[in-house]
Amino acid sequence: MLMIRDIEIANGLALAPMEGVTDLTFRRLVRQIGGCGLTCTEFIPARGLAEQHKKIMEMVKFDVDESPVAIQVFGRDPVALAEGAKIAQDLGAHIVDLNMGCPSKQVCRNSGGSSLMKEPDVVRDIVRAMRAAVEIPFTVKMRSGWDQDSKNAPDLAYLCQEEGAEAVTVHWRTREDKYGGERELDTLAEVKRRLSIPVIANGDIVDVSSALSTQAYTKCDGWMIGRGAIKNPWVFRQIATALAGGTPQEPSLDEREQTLLDYYEALRNRFNSDHGALGRMKKIARYFTEGVHDGAELRKLIFHSATVEEAEENVRAFFERQRQLVA
Ligand SMILES: Cc1cc2nc3c(=O)[nH]c(=O)nc-3n(C[C@H](O)[C@H](O)[C@H](O)COP(=O)(O)O)c2cc1C
Repeated sequence: MLMIRDIEIANGLALAPMEGVTDLTFRRLVRQIGGCGLTCTEFIPARGLAEQHKKIMEMVKFDVDESPVAIQVFGRDPVALAEGAKIAQDLGAHIVDLNMGCPSKQVCRNSGGSSLMKEPDVVRDIVRAMRAAVEIPFTVKMRSGWDQDSKNAPDLAYLCQEEGAEAVTVHWRTREDKYGGERELDTLAEVKRRLSIPVIANGDIVDVSSALSTQAYTKCDGWMIGRGAIKNPWVFRQIATALAGGTPQEPSLDEREQTLLDYYEALRNRFNSDHGALGRMKKIARYFTEGVHDGAELRKLIFHSATVEEAEENVRAFFERQRQLVA
């Protein structure tokens, strides 16, 4: 069982923070399906949170029954990160997480995200400041290192533990790998050997088999799933079922259709403009359709939709054709 201090993470399964994806609407969808033991906001700029900017306060919203939920912050300034962490705690988050894995140029240019992995002394100051600022559990998410020549996650994760972090998540890729690279789990296994706090594995965990093989190799305490959860939001339920000794079920065509349409409706209610909702629909469709039979066709239909209504009609028509094919 995965515990982060006294917080139980059901099934050892966490939804990865994903900017532009894991907002309240997407997290609701994942929670409704079930199996996921921890949700997390997309990354939140610490300074904006500390200063309680209106837009940022919208981004950190979570449901009262969303439990446990983590707020992830990014930045470089220990003072702003500590203040941001304190606001996260005041808002009622159960866990505050530090982003040390983001590869984006914009975040790294300001020396936040994964570029922090090159500066252990700054990391020490940040972790110390954040730890001192909050009573709730504090966790860190990192990559295996900056590049192939500096896979320092074992040392850095150990440093974080010694400074009071209560769990670490390690994405097996380096920053240089971005989202490619060759799968290498030895560094993750080394982190697990060095640490006494829980270690959560991340990177290309997409189904029961990849979860179990990653665990067998690294001895990790839990799993964090990102893109696999957009492609297949049922993945948590499937892994949870397998862990309980059951046989994981694939969602039916009806369930896939209804889930997508419900999500679209929620987006429509959330975004004020058709443009915003449609943009988000297309973003999610890129991954979601990979999990659907003839998904390339569905993706094309959604991408070519000019309005939300047209996208919904296209989804209905696509699934109707699929049902006829299997009938
Ligand atoms: C669209 C997108 C947005 C992301 N945003 C964040 C983020 O806000 N914070 C973070 O720590 N990682 C972010 N990541 C990285 C994921 O959390 C995760 O570490 C990575 O995708 C590897 O896991 P996966 O193979 O299960 O997707 C993002 C990834 C994607 C694809």
